[in-house]
Amino acid sequence: AYPFYKELRKDDPVFAMSENSWIVTKYEHVKELLKSPSFIKDQSKFFSGDHAEDHLGEIDAIFRHMMLDVDPPNHTRLRKLVQPYFNPRTIKGLEPRIREIADDLLTDMKKKGSPIDLLNDYAFPLPIIVISELLGVPAEDRNKFRKWSNTILAAADNLATDFVEDVEAFITYLTHLFEERKTYPKDDLISKLLQAEEEGEKLNKDELYSMIVLLIIAGHETTVNLITNTMYALFEHPAQLEKLKTDLSLVESAIEEGLRFYSPVDFSTARWAEEDTEFHGKTLKRGDLVLASLSSANRDEAIFENADQFDIKRKHNPHVAFGFGIHFCLGAPLARLEGRIALEKLLTAFPDIRLSNPFQEPEWRPVFLLRGLEKLEINIED
Ligand code: HEM
Repeated sequence: AYPFYKELRKDDPVFAMSENSWIVTKYEHVKELLKSPSFIKDQSKFFSGDHAEDHLGEIDAIFRHMMLDVDPPNHTRLRKLVQPYFNPRTIKGLEPRIREIADDLLTDMKKKGSPIDLLNDYAFPLPIIVISELLGVPAEDRNKFRKWSNTILAAADNLATDFVEDVEAFITYLTHLFEERKTYPKDDLISKLLQAEEEGEKLNKDELYSMIVLLIIAGHETTVNLITNTMYALFEHPAQLEKLKTDLSLVESAIEEGLRFYSPVDFSTARWAEEDTEFHGKTLKRGDLVLASLSSANRDEAIFENADQFDIKRKHNPHVAFGFGIHFCLGAPLARLEGRIALEKLLTAFPDIRLSNPFQEPEWRPVFLLRGLEKLEINIED
């Protein structure tokens, strides 16, 4: 995809994917798009009746109320409700627990021995356990969430087969959990949001479900890719991997470079043109879909020196891997902290870490919205 983006940035930066959808590939255009109030999230205002035939009434309602998919003032209200739990300061308080979880996973990996799938045994469970604990969802049910999250994401690409069943199962699961928490509240985010719902005004029932589903998916599908994509890039650049091992103070900039170089989220940044409008030489019609390619923006040579080179010491790195504007990733401080701890602990525990089969081509997941590997097989001893 990267060479294709490069061509688009040069020759056709606002590219017509179809008659009524566009891809924006240049860094400055991406920021402009994501910042502009004329490009909105709620496409329902363009359709009358039940538009999406693969959605069913109630399920549809639940997904249309995610803060990620609504505009102000609803967006402002929903974001304000959860923002305090994701501030850098609050997140910093989770550090000891994140370190403990990483240590436990590394101990299990050591017992298991090589070869190990880094994704399945480390990059996946770490953020899931963290987000589950924060929300108050039993972490032992994580494989269920994994399946449901996968289905929902695949649905966005029209790849899902058991969408309705999985979404219903997800909703039923949450309904039981909510009932339990209403009777026995805990010190977790779900209990707090349930309380807000009962008090009325702050969020309604659909929004409550949407919020939890969104946080579970966002906490599941992205940080996993950050950890594995960055490790994969390091394996591709062995000298930098060696350097990092001997100087762990570089972990912070290595994670930022991982975010830029193999951006975990690519197109989950859909916007709709609120009115007919001109955008950098193209005429967009009301209701047109406009996608920002974050991967492309993050390789824009107008902004990044040697944009196609991976460099863990990169100084100027204003990447947009977490988006831009009012929908800027709520979980960015958490993802960054998890990424740093994950890398630092992994390289300390297994200084001899290497790819099990360096000659094998990586298998990227066929999901349009994200960039992530299917698996990453490693050996942990020499
Ligand atoms: C929004 C990326 C991790 C929660 C976003 C957006 C991006 C993004 C690009 C903006 C989408 C848009 O503008 O349309 C990432 C990446 C992550 C990550 C690359 C990891 C490396 C997380 C985590 C959580 C999270 C761990 C939560 C626990 C959210 C939420 C939004 C969001 C709730 C919606 C914010 C809003 O609409 O105001 N993320 N994310 N993300 N992310 Fe993340």
